[in-house]
Amino acid sequence: MRRKTEMVRSTCCVVLLLLLSVAARSASAIMDGLLPNGNFEEAPDKSQLNGTRVIGRYAIPQWEISGFVEYIGSGQMQGDMLLPVPEGAYAVRLGNEASIQQRLTLTRGMHYSVTFSAARTCAQSELLNITVTPEIGEVPIQTVYTSSGWDSYSWAFKARRSDMSLIVHNPGVTDDAACGPLIDSFAIKTLQSPPSTKDNLLKNGGFEEGPYIFPNTSWGVLVPPMDEDDYSPLSPWTIMGYTKSVKYVDAAHYAVPGGARAVELVAGMEAALVQEVCTVPGRSYRLEFSVGDAGDGCVGSMSVQAYVSHGSVKVPYESQGRGGNKRGVLEFTATDKRTRVVFVSMAYTMKPDGTLCGPVVDDASVVGVHSHRRLLL
Ligand SMILES: *[C@@H]1O[C@H](CO)[C@@H](O)[C@H](O)[C@H]1NC(C)=O
Ligand SMILES: *[C@@H]1O[C@H](CO)[C@@H](O)[C@H](O)[C@H]1NC(C)=O
Ligand SMILES: *[C@@H]1O[C@H](CO)[C@@H](O)[C@H](O)[C@H]1NC(C)=O
Repeated sequence: MRRKTEMVRSTCCVVLLLLLSVAARSASAIMDGLLPNGNFEEAPDKSQLNGTRVIGRYAIPQWEISGFVEYIGSGQMQGDMLLPVPEGAYAVRLGNEASIQQRLTLTRGMHYSVTFSAARTCAQSELLNITVTPEIGEVPIQTVYTSSGWDSYSWAFKARRSDMSLIVHNPGVTDDAACGPLIDSFAIKTLQSPPSTKDNLLKNGGFEEGPYIFPNTSWGVLVPPMDEDDYSPLSPWTIMGYTKSVKYVDAAHYAVPGGARAVELVAGMEAALVQEVCTVPGRSYRLEFSVGDAGDGCVGSMSVQAYVSHGSVKVPYESQGRGGNKRGVLEFTATDKRTRVVFVSMAYTMKPDGTLCGPVVDDASVVGVHSHRRLLL
C-alpha cells in the first residue's frame, strides 16, 4: 500500500533554463488529445469475442491485451445494474490481473500526462497500476466523485525513450473474474514546464498548466496523490494524501476565479495541494490566493487553510454553489531556504447528489515583501 513520505528535495533553485532546450518537439511525436482508439469505439471483430470476453491479444484495434478483458457496450447489464459508458458506445473492463497496453511515440525527455476515465464495478477494485517503463503509478479509484460513477484521472511521466508502452493493469484479485474496473477515453498531453516569473515565486500559480481535459466532459479530471519522486500532472504542484484526489476543473464547465483552470479541493483534509519555493531565511514574503466555489452546486460553509513556514491562515468561504471567490493573504517570514506552501480544505462538503465537492483554489502567488515595497517607492 502506498504511504506518503515527507517530501524532501535538496536541490533548491537549480536553473531550469536547460529544460527549455529539450522542448523542441519531434514531428512524429504524439499530439495532445485522444490516443488512437483511445475511446475503444473501433470494435474487435465478432470472431474475436466470446460474449463480452475479448479473445485475441491484438483484437482491439491499436491495443494489446493480456488476461480477462471484456468489451462492454453501453446498455450492458451486470446482474441488475446497468453499466454506463462515459464516452461513445464502448468501454473495456479489466478482470483480475488483466492489462491493456498501447505503444506511444514520444519525444524523449519530455513530460506527459495521461487522462483516462474509470469506474469501479464490484466495489472492490480500488486501484489501477499504470506503467510507462520505468515509471509505475498507482491510481486509486476507490472514491467516486461523480454521480455517474465515472471519473477521469490523470497520471504523469517522463519519456525515457521515444518508443514506449503505456500499460494499464488491474492488480486486483477477486472471486468474481468479471469484477474489475471499467476504463475508457485515454488521452495524452505534453506538459510544458511552467515559466517562472519574477514577481511570483510559485510556478503554475494559476494552475493553467495541467492534465488534458476532454473539451466535452463536464466532470473535470482528478489528480491523485503521488509519491515524492513522481512527476505531477500539475507540476510543480503535488498532491499529498493517501487515496484521495483533488479535481482539476476548466472554465468551460465550472466557475474558475482566473484564467481557464483551477483546482477544486474535493476531499476535505485528506488531500493537500503542495509546492515548495526557494526563500531567503529571515526575509518577509506575502502569499496571496483565491478561494471560491466552482459553481457546481456545492453549497455550504467552506474554508481553505494555507500553511507557510510557521504561519497559517484560514479563509472561510460561504458557498451558494453558483460561483464567486475572494482573496486570502498571509504574510510570513521565511525560516528556511525552502518554504513549503500547502493548501487544504478544512471541511467535507457534499452536493445534493451525494458526491464530494469543496472549495476552489486559484491564482496563488508568493512575493518578497521588501522588493515589492522598493518597487512602490
Ligand atoms: C466461450 O466461453 C464459454 C464459457 O466460458 C466456453 O465454454 C466456450 O468454450 C467459449 N467459446 C470459445 C469459442 O472460446
Ligand atoms: C466528445 O466529442 C467527441 C467528438 O467531438 C464525441 O465523439 C464524443 O462522443 C463526445 N463525448 C462526450 C462525453 O460527449
Ligand atoms: C502494482 O500492482 C502490483 C501487483 O499487485 C503490486 O504489487 C504493486 O505494489 C502495485 N504498484 C506498483 C507501484 O507497482
